[in-house]
Amino acid sequence: MQGLRIFRLCGGFKKEKAMSIKPLKIGNLIIEKPIIQGGMGVGISLGGLAGAVAKEGGIGIISAAQIGYREPDFDRDPLAANIRAIKKEYDKARKIAPEGVIGFNIMVAMRHYEDYVQAAVEAGADIIISGAGLPTELPRLAGGSEVKLAPIVSTGKSAGVILKFWDKKYNRVPDLLVIEGPKAGGHLGFTRDQLTEYLETETGDYDGEIRKIFEIVREYEARYQKKIPVAVAGGIENREQADHAFALGADAIQVATRFVTTQECDADIRYKEAYLRAEKGDIVIVKSPVGMPGRAICNGFMKKVNAGEKIPHTACHGCLRKCDPAEIPYCITDALIHAAKGEVEDALLFCGAYAYKAEKLETVKEVMDSLI
Ligand SMILES: Cc1cc2nc3c(=O)[nH]c(=O)nc-3n(C[C@H](O)[C@H](O)[C@H](O)COP(=O)(O)O)c2cc1C
Repeated sequence: MQGLRIFRLCGGFKKEKAMSIKPLKIGNLIIEKPIIQGGMGVGISLGGLAGAVAKEGGIGIISAAQIGYREPDFDRDPLAANIRAIKKEYDKARKIAPEGVIGFNIMVAMRHYEDYVQAAVEAGADIIISGAGLPTELPRLAGGSEVKLAPIVSTGKSAGVILKFWDKKYNRVPDLLVIEGPKAGGHLGFTRDQLTEYLETETGDYDGEIRKIFEIVREYEARYQKKIPVAVAGGIENREQADHAFALGADAIQVATRFVTTQECDADIRYKEAYLRAEKGDIVIVKSPVGMPGRAICNGFMKKVNAGEKIPHTACHGCLRKCDPAEIPYCITDALIHAAKGEVEDALLFCGAYAYKAEKLETVKEVMDSLI
């Protein structure tokens, strides 16, 4: 696909350098289009979206976060419901893309992380992408399986820690590393101060941080004599931004927000319409109930939370490890389930920095074609 296109001009030839977009290689997996659809919980990237992206030649990622929210026993036994749904959603995606590359996003911050990793491996996942904390134990949990393992990092510091840890403890490197920047959606791997610096000051230089991460990766590649593919994520919504990520050295891009407003996305139509309606000023940094910053659309729900209102919640569904149901201003599981079901005024509407740019519903193929 790499190439110099040669155009015949009057009397001579002109060479134009075309952007080099190579298939992504992760061990024995060859992904024709180097686009990873980022995992989106709760219920935004399930088997439908992941299958559609995999079918188009990218990597489709199912989010394991409270994936069983539609199962009849979810209130009584969320763990069993989630484990059952992991298999169901995987099978659904696999049916759509029998030859495609399909994986799971499993957040380290989740309670029962170990069980979800095991369920994803048993379901047949090709890859597990894991962030919201550093996946120090992931290689041990995946055991001897063939599944590819990909930590998400946001800073040179976190990249250094996880690469060193896996090197020392498991004598291995990740199969893929995802760098998620400050313009991403959902929970963000930065402090408020870091976000302010990267997004609002002249000196904020996230490309510099990406280069730092690449330096660390190159060091481990040299040591292991092995390529470590890297995906860059966060605010990539057009070909220019994708090209910029590839020019920085990325082997792939991870994209989420653009896939929300697709026909194939698993969310309710009213969630997609909330993106289509959103304007630049509606997209804000919010604090999740456990204190982590995230990005979302400022709706009636968010205004109530910001005004200090405590939102009543259902019995705990055991999602985040560090949550104390007695202390929280709202329940993140409740708020994200409302989002997936389209009850958008009672919901936490996670989105990326450029969600306001979406103007119409598209197909997965149209989105992918517009990126590379
Ligand atoms: C609605 C939404 C939900 C998300 N949920 C998760 C999640 O459950 N786990 C996770 O690791 N990342 C999550 N993310 C982050 C994405 O996987 C992705 O890396 C990031 O949003 C990429 O930036 P973009 O949305 O600007 O393309 C979410 C993003 C969005 C927009």
